[in-house]
Amino acid sequence: MANLLNPERSSSALNRLPQLRIGLLGFGTVGEGTYRMLEDNLASIRRKTGADLSVVRIGIRDEKKSRRAPRELFTADNMGIVIDPSIDLVVEAIGGIDPALSLVEAALDHGKSVVTANKEMMAKHGARLLEKARAKQIDLHFEAAVGGGIPIVQVLKHQLAGNDVPMMMGILNGTSNYILTAMSQEGRPFDEVLAEAQLKGYAEADPTNDVEGFDTMYKISILASIVYGGPVPLESVHREGITGVDAIDFEYADVLGYTIKLLGVAEELADGSVRVRVHPAFVPKAHSLASVNDVFNAVWFHGDFVGDLMFSGRGAGGDPTASAVVGDVIDVARNFAAKGTGSALPFDPPRAAAGMDDLVSRIYVRLDVLDKPNTLGRISTAFGDHNVGLAAMEMRTTDANHGEIAFLTHPVREAQFVAALEAVEQLDVVYGVGNWIRAIEVTK
Ligand code: NAP
Ligand code: HSE
Repeated sequence: MANLLNPERSSSALNRLPQLRIGLLGFGTVGEGTYRMLEDNLASIRRKTGADLSVVRIGIRDEKKSRRAPRELFTADNMGIVIDPSIDLVVEAIGGIDPALSLVEAALDHGKSVVTANKEMMAKHGARLLEKARAKQIDLHFEAAVGGGIPIVQVLKHQLAGNDVPMMMGILNGTSNYILTAMSQEGRPFDEVLAEAQLKGYAEADPTNDVEGFDTMYKISILASIVYGGPVPLESVHREGITGVDAIDFEYADVLGYTIKLLGVAEELADGSVRVRVHPAFVPKAHSLASVNDVFNAVWFHGDFVGDLMFSGRGAGGDPTASAVVGDVIDVARNFAAKGTGSALPFDPPRAAAGMDDLVSRIYVRLDVLDKPNTLGRISTAFGDHNVGLAAMEMRTTDANHGEIAFLTHPVREAQFVAALEAVEQLDVVYGVGNWIRAIEVTK
């Protein structure tokens, strides 16, 4: 009799396992990593799933490229893979919308479960795709779309789902975190660190999605849609990137007790509305997110019963992302072996979206000013006239007539701060606003 705990089981035992035939779309960083992990760890994956998994076709674009997998697996006919009746599971690792979306839709229409790493597709079309999967009682999993190797999507869907979640936030873009960490620790300017990140292969040739906050917006929207049970329209998300952050902002942050991170934040307000935002944030040095550096990602979560949790790890790269994809493949394989039905997430209609005007936070603001004795008094008065309290201040002379003043306000409603800043900008002792950045608090 075959020993099911023995990875070298006899071929007759393997023959008795249900065969799960996988069509892999994309053989780049994530697709190749996924293929290699399924090959390298096949014996243990078979043991853990009770299914005999194999990648039987791989879809790519360029048939001339040399590949580290048998030539006969590859085809540029990606649609042929998804409609092939002998394929049970489609793993999508192409990225973007076209052709990934039509391939995934066709796979679901043909009754095949899908695993995808595609954050943009899930953020823009996830609700519709999940509805399709639910109607067909098949799986649609997307762990790798957020946080690379960090297990967060399935954890939010299952283990933490009983909690109400006043707030969740994350450092979700490795490229931006690498840039901000280098600016903070080495005092180097944005452009120089971005060029280095491109040379090292962290940032793409076109880094817009990373540094302008789109990538973080997709990821936090996906997490918020799981936690708050409904799709998050991307038009409702406030988004700012990191291109306006200056090396000097890190110096002021440091003396004020903070560092600067690009955060995706999702919060539920007392009226049931949900606010989702992406922007650089002053993070207190005592907050666990402050020590997440370089290309690492982290998700910080507050649940009403579980309290505070933080998950951190490698948010990108072939191997960590393959770990997330293969975790989803294993979920599908177990379901398949047990002849179960799919478990695609149910969604309610979108929640009302809260805007930024009523957000209350401390705000850091840096002003370029005329360096004269009455400057500080006039600026403080203008803020005071608009009920904006100043909690801390740093100033320095930059040249003969110029100075720079950095304030940290008391918690203030954002619309009130913006009105105050408009009045401050009109003062003849103020040359301009260098930058302003919202702060987050350490929760009790
Ligand atoms: P990649 O390295 O650029 O690989 C993309 C693959 O898709 C390539 O094999 C490419 O084919 C294929 N492809 C591109 N356009 C195609 C088309 N029109 N038709 C058929 N095949 C096409 O991308 P990646 O970094 O692996 O990312 C894949 C997905 O994973 C994206 O959704 C990304 O957001 C997500 N993700 C990536 C990471 C990461 O660290 N890279 C982490 C988490 C999630 P050729 O090989 O022929 O060019
Ligand atoms: N460009 C992304 C990042 C890759 O820098 O985090 C992972 O989604």
